[in-house]
Amino acid sequence: MDLKGRNFLTLKDFTPEEITYLIDLAAEYKDKKKKGILHDTLRGKNIALIFEKTSTRTRCSFEVAAHDLGIGTTYLEPSGSQIGKKESIADTARVLGRMYEGIEYRGYEQAIVEELAKYAGVPVWNGLTNEYHPTQMLADMLTIREHFGHLKNIRLTYMGDARYNMGNSLMIVCAKLGMHFTACTAKEYFPDETLVAQCKEYAAQSGATITLTEDVNAGTKGADVIYTDVWVSMGEPEEVWEERIEKLSAYKVTKAVMDSAGENAVFLHCLPAFHDLKTKIGKEQGEKYGFTELEVTDEVFESAQSLVFEEAENRMHTIKAVIAATLGAV
Ligand code: CP
Ligand code: NVA
Repeated sequence: MDLKGRNFLTLKDFTPEEITYLIDLAAEYKDKKKKGILHDTLRGKNIALIFEKTSTRTRCSFEVAAHDLGIGTTYLEPSGSQIGKKESIADTARVLGRMYEGIEYRGYEQAIVEELAKYAGVPVWNGLTNEYHPTQMLADMLTIREHFGHLKNIRLTYMGDARYNMGNSLMIVCAKLGMHFTACTAKEYFPDETLVAQCKEYAAQSGATITLTEDVNAGTKGADVIYTDVWVSMGEPEEVWEERIEKLSAYKVTKAVMDSAGENAVFLHCLPAFHDLKTKIGKEQGEKYGFTELEVTDEVFESAQSLVFEEAENRMHTIKAVIAATLGAV
């Protein structure tokens, strides 16, 4: 498998074999890391990390993964560069492409990361856009595979805002890898029809299925994985909170949802999560709308069925695999 020089913008661009290869490679790197076996085979290289939105996991994963591989990093924070303000994406890409061997981008429209990739001349990695979050998918798949031993035929139910980066990306990866994806949410939050049609084509090849339902019982019964994400994503306006709470409260992940899935089901969340009021935004919104937990209850989040911290750790191992494979370390 040779992924050297490839961009990593959305999993739509990758075959099931390539996705599986990256998950396998991540598992190898994880094993090496745990055993203390050094793997700094990319010494002398440098990568740029552009973040137009904030981050804990993705940024730290890129920094630690790069360091472990022997790569130097430059972090460009949301307010710390000229990008999009004084300098176009195409110009930025051509400047950074001359200094760095790879560029990570987190920001708004997918078109921006695509433009960056078009002009950079070096691999560009999508660290989250409005539409997709592909590095998160590899971590989620590694976590599910570690727990269940396989991915094929796993039933994954996504609850909440299924028309944004997480819902879209989970539908794509499940369709590619022969899993059964269900979006269980209000109709307005179903994924885009064109993307659903495209994923149904992948599903026809892999044996996957795609179901969209508003019915919580039908959508969660017998699921292996219950997945959710915040109801209001980064960059969305304050005004959407009210409508989200009204429309999505019926799709909160509660103990009743986990019981419907069954005792062998696991809970995943890309994080950060509003499972209590111990955050500034959670507290403000909680006081305004009268809730104490949002997309998932604290009970489920803290339960033995919750694998969210294993999942967060796997961000680093999987991002390392993406960097290494596309920069030609393997
Ligand atoms: N899951 C995720 O992407 O987390 P960050 O926003 O902290 O990077
Ligand atoms: N949907 C969330 C994902 C965060 C990792 C957001 O875009 O803010």
